[in-house]
Amino acid sequence: MIKILKLNSISPLADEVFTGYEIYENCDNPDGIIVRSAHMHDYAINDNLLAVARAGAGTNNIPSAVYAEKGIVVFNTPGANANAVKELVICELFLGGRKITEAVDWVKTLKGEGENVSKLVEKGKGKFAGCEIAGKTLGIIGLGAIGVAVANSAAALKMNVIGFDPFLSTPNAVALTSDVKLVSSRDDVYRKSDFITLHVPLTAETKCMINKKSIAKMKDGAVIINNSRGELAATDDVIEALENGKLSRYITDFPDDKLIGTKNAVCLPHLGASTPEAEDYCAVMAANQLADYIENGNIKNSVNYPAVSMPRSCAARLCVHHKNIKEMLTKILTEISSQSINVSNMQDASKGEYAYLICDLDEAPAPETIEKIRAIDGVIRVRQI
Ligand code: MLT
Repeated sequence: MIKILKLNSISPLADEVFTGYEIYENCDNPDGIIVRSAHMHDYAINDNLLAVARAGAGTNNIPSAVYAEKGIVVFNTPGANANAVKELVICELFLGGRKITEAVDWVKTLKGEGENVSKLVEKGKGKFAGCEIAGKTLGIIGLGAIGVAVANSAAALKMNVIGFDPFLSTPNAVALTSDVKLVSSRDDVYRKSDFITLHVPLTAETKCMINKKSIAKMKDGAVIINNSRGELAATDDVIEALENGKLSRYITDFPDDKLIGTKNAVCLPHLGASTPEAEDYCAVMAANQLADYIENGNIKNSVNYPAVSMPRSCAARLCVHHKNIKEMLTKILTEISSQSINVSNMQDASKGEYAYLICDLDEAPAPETIEKIRAIDGVIRVRQI
């Protein structure tokens, strides 16, 4: 029986996808893992582990490159929590423009003032005046599913929206309303925006992209919103800019000890995707992708292997993870044809250093043929389904 390990609390709707599987919250030797925020960099993996599915977009809690080398596919669920995160960003735009958090705290101090409350409210409210977001420029860095959803909603709220994404996909470009203007660099976003929101994964390239240098390019009093990952910003530089007024607000879903209590830092406890709707969507999408991979070898939405999927057309399917180097297909297909087996359908694609092949065969190859394919230099994993 196939074993699935849920490393975090994951919506029970995921369980309904895994018919005929065993599902555990703790087990040795799982075939597949579903994870949310558990840190897997020190997790001891077992030899039979086939794939890890993250119920969420970011995968920095999973050592995806190490897993690629072992033929373990890492999935994520782009778009499944986009609406939840977008709604939080819209709320944060208002928190950025107006002193709502301070005002709420101040009103609490009026408890016990009895009939004086309304007089004190009118007298004190001037300290908490803020600006409207309509007519202000919102700069979005990263136009994936979340960035696009934010862009369209902010444009509907009459903001001038500009966006930058060097990897903008055609479907995402098409999904943007015509009010959203694309710019050609992060610097354009820094220079032109009153509000900046980050929607990029944490990578070596994006780490600390918000720093002294980039902040210096921004408008005085800019607001930064970060619901992606805390490490995208250099905390000390952000604090210095909040203290000297260069930034008027830093609103983040990823607080750290230094930021908490800093004036004009608004810290939330990683709430972006914390809605029952998003948790259900992410869990079901992660589970479907994992089950389709385990049962059919199909890969969709992986961060460390290419998208390769085909409907089943034959009795036997061979799936081969291999290095993206020359002559791999020739060597693999030579072994298959040496047994005179017809290849009915085939797909191979690469992503960076790694590639993946699905072959539908008219008959199952002999165990020796599989061993010979496994022994080819550059082949990482072979699975017959
Ligand atoms: C994400 O990467 O999509 C979020 O961090 C998901 C979550 O809140 O678990």
